[in-house]
Amino acid sequence: MKTTKLVMLVMTIAVALFILIPNLSWAEDGAALYKTKCAACHGADAAGKPAAKIPSLVSEDAKKKSDADLTKAVVETAKHPGTVKSLPAGDTKAIVTYVRGLQK
Ligand code: HEC
Repeated sequence: MKTTKLVMLVMTIAVALFILIPNLSWAEDGAALYKTKCAACHGADAAGKPAAKIPSLVSEDAKKKSDADLTKAVVETAKHPGTVKSLPAGDTKAIVTYVRGLQK
């Protein structure tokens, strides 16, 4: 009987972690990735640098863009360095999610 309870407890914890961890690490990854891969140009607050012709990622224009368009911009913007263009799709997705958060 005791073993059954223990197994149930372990299962419950496993399921809880399974649900929680992807969400937690996702948000963190996006922030960390943005900081290392994008902030140098677009700024920590994503406001861009007008003087250097680096667009804001939190402008009304940027807010109107779909997730697909933002993702496409990361991969296709001619002025983006290769290290940005070749980010794994999961990283780009996490960054776009993070930028969406900054736009609010
Ligand atoms: C080396 C500097 C640099 C880095 C690093 C950089 N960007 Fe950019 N980004 C630019 C410049 C410059 C433009 C404008 C290009 C143009 O007008 O052709 C741009 C354009 C964009 C656009 C299109 C905006 C629009 O309104 O059209 C998006 C979205 C974007 N960047 C997101 C990102 C993200 C996300 C990262 C990090 C993964 C990143 N950028 C990293 C310089 C950079």
